[in-house]
Amino acid sequence: AMTHAFKSYEIDAVCNFAAESHVDRSIVAPDAFIKTNIEGTFNLLEISRQNSDRLVLFHHVSTDEVYGSLGPDGFFTEKTSYRPNSPYSASKAASDHLVRAYHKTYALPVTISNCSNNYGPYQFPEKLIPLIILNALEDKPLPVYGDGRNVRDWLYVKDHCRAVWEIMKRGTRGQTYNIGGRCESTNIETVTMVCDLLDEMVTKADRTSRKDLITFVKDRPGHDLRYAIDCSKLEKELGWAPIESFETGLRKTVQWYLNNSQWVHRVKSGEYLDWVRQHYGNEEGV
Ligand code: TYD
Repeated sequence: AMTHAFKSYEIDAVCNFAAESHVDRSIVAPDAFIKTNIEGTFNLLEISRQNSDRLVLFHHVSTDEVYGSLGPDGFFTEKTSYRPNSPYSASKAASDHLVRAYHKTYALPVTISNCSNNYGPYQFPEKLIPLIILNALEDKPLPVYGDGRNVRDWLYVKDHCRAVWEIMKRGTRGQTYNIGGRCESTNIETVTMVCDLLDEMVTKADRTSRKDLITFVKDRPGHDLRYAIDCSKLEKELGWAPIESFETGLRKTVQWYLNNSQWVHRVKSGEYLDWVRQHYGNEEGV
């Protein structure tokens, strides 16, 4: 498919957003992560190398999870050593190394970004925030792993995309940039915030709170305690800063899921798989 794409269009820049990204899935079935995240990146790098005469940039989108887990203090910087803990983060780490190696070995013009947890419109409901919104709307239990004190640094998807675009336009080739939202929150705080927003925006007839649905469940194996990003390099070099606070971004996100029940229904019912089969003949294109 990539060979076909490169033959059909005059591609001069590649931005690799494609990945299997859900940690829980990678614990149950790591195979797809190796195939998509490592082999997929390799395929894109190879086709880019073969077309290097017209390629001005290969940008690779990655995750802060490659750095492993933080204790209560400190931040990940671009100099933090790689120490991935899940099959997902290990597969992303491998792909980052390949991209870096193609720059050193073949002088491919690359940039890499490592971002914190994304949230916002169109996020697949396996991820924490949409899962909590949709379960809460259906009065289903809200599963919180372990004691709910794990910390994530939340980045609104549009802030992320603006950062990627700035890096693509003005980033130094061969460099890595960390992207974070400066919105650290424990999972229990995050789930509580979603419940409060929903209680305000769609008050339940019996006036009870969705917080009553919070259920502590068995922890994820190898669950990283804390992620937090120091994104000062990106701020200083390219003048980027996140626009959304966690409060404003979360409000927009909850509103988006309330306004887009058809999308939610299609994704949750698996109809989107029919669409993929129709367009690609199989499910490989998901
Ligand atoms: P997730 O959205 O899967 O992102 P990641 O694991 O890449 O950070 O999960 C975010 C956090 O929420 C993570 O600490 C795991 C936790 N979590 C729950 O407590 N319950 C859930 O049902 C899910 C999916 C995640």
